[in-house]
Amino acid sequence: MPEFSRRSFIGAGAAVSGLGLLAACGRTGAAGSPSGALVTPTDAIVDAVEKERAGTGRERAFTLRAAESELDLGGRTVRTWSYGNALPGEELRVSAGDTLKATLENRLPDPTSIHWHGLALRNDMDGVPPVTQKAVEPGEDFTYRFIVDTPGTHWFHPHVGTQIDRGLYAPIIVDDPDEPLAYDEEWVVMLDDWLDGVDGTTPDAVLEEVRGGMDHGGHGEGGIDGMGGDAPMRMGNTLMGASSELLGGDAGDIYYPMHLVDGRPADDPRTFTAEPGARLRLRLVNAGGDTAYRVVLGGHRMTVTHTDGYPVEHREVDGVVLGMGERYDVLVTLEDGVFPLVALAEGKDATALGVVRTGSGRAPGKDVRPDGLDGKIVHATELKAAPEVRLEQRSPEAEHTIELTGTMGAYDWALNGRRFDHEDPTKGAYECEQGQRVRLVFKNSTTMWHPMHLHGHTFQIAGGGPRKDTVIVLPGESVKVDFEADNPGQWLVHCHNIYHGEAGMMGLMAYTA
Ligand code: C2O
Ligand code: CU
Repeated sequence: MPEFSRRSFIGAGAAVSGLGLLAACGRTGAAGSPSGALVTPTDAIVDAVEKERAGTGRERAFTLRAAESELDLGGRTVRTWSYGNALPGEELRVSAGDTLKATLENRLPDPTSIHWHGLALRNDMDGVPPVTQKAVEPGEDFTYRFIVDTPGTHWFHPHVGTQIDRGLYAPIIVDDPDEPLAYDEEWVVMLDDWLDGVDGTTPDAVLEEVRGGMDHGGHGEGGIDGMGGDAPMRMGNTLMGASSELLGGDAGDIYYPMHLVDGRPADDPRTFTAEPGARLRLRLVNAGGDTAYRVVLGGHRMTVTHTDGYPVEHREVDGVVLGMGERYDVLVTLEDGVFPLVALAEGKDATALGVVRTGSGRAPGKDVRPDGLDGKIVHATELKAAPEVRLEQRSPEAEHTIELTGTMGAYDWALNGRRFDHEDPTKGAYECEQGQRVRLVFKNSTTMWHPMHLHGHTFQIAGGGPRKDTVIVLPGESVKVDFEADNPGQWLVHCHNIYHGEAGMMGLMAYTA
C-alpha cells in the first residue's frame, strides 16, 4: 500500500472526473460485481484521511457497558439490554474536534458493536460487523477511537441483528465551539417504540414472526386495545392497516405496546421544567425500530434549525415528522403553563408524551392530541440547507439508482431486488472513488415509506435541500441525494426500519482503491 498524502488523493479524484466515469459507474452498482479492488477499512488511506481531520488534540474517554438489565418503564418492569442500566443510555457530549475514546464492554449474551449514527468518522470505527470490524464477543471489550469533526445531534446503537430495538441506544451531542444559536434551555429527547420484554416478546421473535408471514402471526386480536373503527389490526406483533397520510400510505409493520419519550410511557411521562419565556433548544431523535413520529409541543409553534445535525434555513412550523434514525433541532419560546410534548406514532393510533412545565396547571392526560398535529408538519424535502453547509454546485461523476424493493407479504425487502449478503457484503456493492461527487437516487417501488440512511457521509437532498444522513422516501417517489466522496472505506446504505434492514434492505457503498 503506497503512502497517501492529502494532495495525492485529491489529485486522483480530479484526474478521473468526467463523463466517461459516470457511464462506467452507472454500469456497476446493483447489477455488476465490484470491478476492481476496494478500499478496506484498514487501508492506509483511511488513516491518512483521519490525520487530515480538524482535531483539537483533546481526548474524551467514556466507558459503555452493554448488559442485560431490568428497567422500570413507568411502573412496568421489563428485562432488556441497555447501556449502563439506563434508558436511554447516558448522553455523550463532546466538542467538535475532540477525539472520542469509547470502550464498549460487552456483557451481553450475544456479540455486539456500536455504530455512531450521523458521524462522518474513520471507516474502521463505524461499528458494522462484518464489514468494518469483527463483532465484539460476549465478555470482550472494544475501544472506539476517532476524531469527531462536525457539530450536531447524533446517536449511537449496535449494528448487529435487531439489537437496536432493545434498549441499546443513547445520544451523542457534538457541541459547536462557536455555537451561533442563543438559547436558555437545551433538552435532548429520544423517541422510541418499545416491545422488548413485554409479555416475553423480543425483537428477534418479532422478526421471525413478520418474516414468516401472517400464518405465523398467532391469532387475530382485532383492533388495538381501546381503539375502534379504523384502528389498525394486529395479529401477534404484526400490524395491518397502519396508514398515514404524511407517509403516503402504509405506516409500519409492527405493533408496539409502548411508545416512549426518554424511556417513559405516556401514562408516566417525563416532566421538563423551565421558566416561562425561556428560549428552548429541543434536540429530537427517533430511536424507534418501525415507527415514524409526528412531534408537536401543544400551544407552541417551533422553528426548525437543524436536521441530522446540520443547519437549515430556519422555518417556523407546527411540528416535524421523524423517520427512524432522523434528528431535528428546533427552537421554541416557552409560554407560561403546562404543555404536552406529543409524539404521534404515525398510523398506529398511539402517542409518546413528555410534559413541559413552566407554571402551574394540571398535567395533560395521556391521550392528549394538540391541534398542532393537524397543522403545518414539515417534510425534510421542503427544507433548505443553511448556506454554510450547502454543497457547492457540481455535476455528479458517479450515480447510482438504488431501487427500494419488496413487499410486506413476502417480507423480501431489498435494494435493487438484491438482499444484503452478510457472508459476502461487498457483493454487488455500489462503487465510488475518492474525490468524486456522487449522486444516489432512492427510487421507492414499494407501497411503503422507507427511511434511507448512508453511513460515513452527510448527503444533500438535490436542489439545495438539507444536509442529512437519513431521509424518508415515500412510496412511489424518488429522492435524489448528493455527497462528496471524501471518506474512503466501505459504508452501509440501508433502510433504518430495523426489520426491513435485517430482512435484506441494505447495501454497501464502497470506494474503489
Ligand atoms: Cu443508525 Cu446503519 O444505522
Ligand atoms: Cu424500509
